[in-house]
Order: sequence, then structure tokens, then C-alpha cells
Amino acid sequence: MTTTEPSSPIRTTPLPSVGDLSGRRIGAEELEALTRVITSGKLNSTVGGETRAWEAEFGAYCGVEHVVACSSGTSALHLAVAAVNPAPGDEIITTGLSDAGTVLPIVMQNAVPVFADVDPWTGILDPDSVEAAITDRTRAIIVVHLFGVPAPVERLREIADRHGVILIEDCAQAYGTRTASGALAGTVGHLGCFSLQQSKHITAGDGGMVISKGEPELARRARLFADKAWPRDTNERTHLFLSLNYRMTELQAAVARAQLPKLDGIVADRRARALRLTEAIADLPGLRPAPTEGTSYWQFPIFIDTAAAGGDGHPYAESLGSDGIGGSPGYIQMPLYQNPVLAEARTYGDSGFPLTEVHDRYARGLCPNTEALIDGRLLVIGWNENYTEQDVDDIAAALRRASERIAR
Ligand SMILES: Cc1ncc(COP(=O)(O)O)c(C=O)c1O
Repeated sequence: MTTTEPSSPIRTTPLPSVGDLSGRRIGAEELEALTRVITSGKLNSTVGGETRAWEAEFGAYCGVEHVVACSSGTSALHLAVAAVNPAPGDEIITTGLSDAGTVLPIVMQNAVPVFADVDPWTGILDPDSVEAAITDRTRAIIVVHLFGVPAPVERLREIADRHGVILIEDCAQAYGTRTASGALAGTVGHLGCFSLQQSKHITAGDGGMVISKGEPELARRARLFADKAWPRDTNERTHLFLSLNYRMTELQAAVARAQLPKLDGIVADRRARALRLTEAIADLPGLRPAPTEGTSYWQFPIFIDTAAAGGDGHPYAESLGSDGIGGSPGYIQMPLYQNPVLAEARTYGDSGFPLTEVHDRYARGLCPNTEALIDGRLLVIGWNENYTEQDVDDIAAALRRASERIAR
């Protein structure tokens, strides 16, 4: 419901949400896919054909030769790190502004996360900061296409190649994102990682994929790592190196296969609605939406010039909330490096390993741009393919009202 009364909330009904069917395109196709698996009696990928078919279909969609399906986005990143095969204490450069799933696999694999700072107007790793962090122990860079905004992966790939390290793209939030060269996110680095968790552009509840163009050795290690390093293609029952079971189930794969034909429409609808909001709020002082070029809008981030806007994301989120619109200042509660797991090295027993020597560095001040965004320079508006134009106009009206309250 919409009202123009200045004192009453702009929305009294909730916006479509990724948390339920209102904001998801899930229906008869997914049900049919699940029935197909259940009635086959083949629920595991070692006996059924859904997971291998999903890998082939997602590979064709991305234009890559190698896809390894797995159980989550976090496990996809663990597969990628394990494929790089760091020695204990080797370093992997990444961001403090992401889901923890970007970083925890580094530590699980006994490597050390090194945090580079982000661009203040995109929240994405700044290539200069990455290059400055490279040492002779660096083995990889994990860059996140945050909120579906394209990361500068062409530059990062050039830096990675020059230093002989692997570039991993975290595309959990970036299905359909197009990079500066027009490539699909995930295809410029050596490896790309995706998530099928509930809130992503497409979902199977949980699930993940590692993709690779032209890196058969890395892809093979990732595939083995997802399956106890058991080389099933050789008919041997051997275990070639230390790894776990991160297999995707046939149920997840069947749902993902039903979701894939919907993906382009979901991205197009998210983009169209995001362009509408970007235009509608262009004149609001101090509020700078994400760059639209190539962005696939997992969420709608706004980067704030707090002096011009009259405040940071906190008063804006509060004003939006009073108008029935959800907004999250900062996206995450603290930089990833300040979480107890890293800052206090809560890892294996009391050892602190592999962070024993470094966790003191995970202190405030390490990445000033990252911290300023999390402290409030960033305001994140939930985004959805099922928003109507009226929904978008309500969000714009709520932002305008917030600006009128706060910026003057
Ligand atoms: C950028 C990013 N990386 C990694 C993950 C981890 O994915 P999952 O929740 O599927 O383990 C997520 C989201 O959940 C994410 O948004």
C-alpha cells in the first residue's frame, strides 16, 4: 500500500523478500525436478546424473570448460584454496568487507589471510592495495564482486600473472555480472566461485560451484578435494591427498538446473529496477549508488559522502525503517579480520595456528576504507527481481524523505 501523507509510513506492506516465495522464482519446474530425482531413487551424485548435468549446463552458461559442483559457496571457496595447495603459513590476499565464507576457507587450509583495503566508492578490493600486500609467501588473491558490482579483475589478473599467483573470483553475489572487458564474472581469474544459498540470484537452498577456464590442473584438484580426493574416474579406491566430502546432492543439482533458465530474466529484472532507483535518487546530496555498468545487483549499495548527506547510513536506515523499508548500514558488523576467530586466533585448540604470528595485526586501522564503509559510509538496500515499479518508487520516496530529514 502506498500513501503520500507526509507523517504516515510510505509502506505498510512488506517488499518481496528472498527469504520466501514473494521474492523467489521457484515453482513447478523445481518441483518437477525434485520429483524426477526422488522417483529415480538416486539422491547422490555418485549414482545419479543430475550433478554432472548441472555442471555441464552451468559450464555452457559461463562459457568455461570446468565446473565442480559442491555443497555451498563457502565450500566452493575451500575447494579453490585447496586447489592452490598453499603450504601452512602461505598468504592469500583478500578483503575484510564480505561474507565470512570468503575468508574462513583460507584459515581452514592453514594459510594466512592478508587483508588489502577496498575502493571507497565500490567496497571492492583496490588493486594498488593488493599489489602492495604481495610478498614472497603470497599464493593467491581472492577478490569479491561485492553486491554484484564488477571487481577490477582484468587489472588483478595482470597483477596475479606478473607475480605468479592465482586469482580467485568470489562470485557468490555476482551471477551475470559483467566485468570491464565484458566478460562474465568468474571467467577472468583462474578460478571463480559461486553460491546457491537462499539469498543468491538463483538458489537450491545451499550449494556452490567452482568454475575455471583453461586451468585443468586446478579444476581437477578442486574436484578431488570435494570427494575425499578419490579419483573415481580411474576406478581406484585411493585417497590422493587430505580432503573432505563437499559433494552437492542430486536434489540440489536438480533444483539448480530448474533455476538456471530463469537466471537471465532475474538479472535483467534486478538491473531494470536498480536503474530506475539510481535515476530516481540521482539528485539526493551525498548518496552515491553503485556504478551501474555490468552490475547484477545482489543488493543495492549506496556509498555515502557523509558531509553532503548530513549523516551516515545509520540515520538513513532508521528513517527508511520508519517508512517500512529495510536498509542495513555497513552490511556487516565488523571487518572480517576483527571477528574473534581471526583477531583472537580461535582456530585449533589453543595453538592459534596458523594465525599465531599475525593475529595482532588484525586490529582496527588495518584497512581504513573498509572500516569507514562498515562503520556507516555504506547503506545497503535489499534488492529483488520481483519488485514492482511501485515498490522501487516507494524506496525512492523513502530515501528522498530521509534525505530531506537528514541532509538539511
Ligand atoms: C561474497 C560471498 N562469499 C561467500 C559466501 C558464502 O556462501 P555460502 O553461504 O553459500 O556458504 C557468501 C554468502 O553467503 C557471499 O556472499
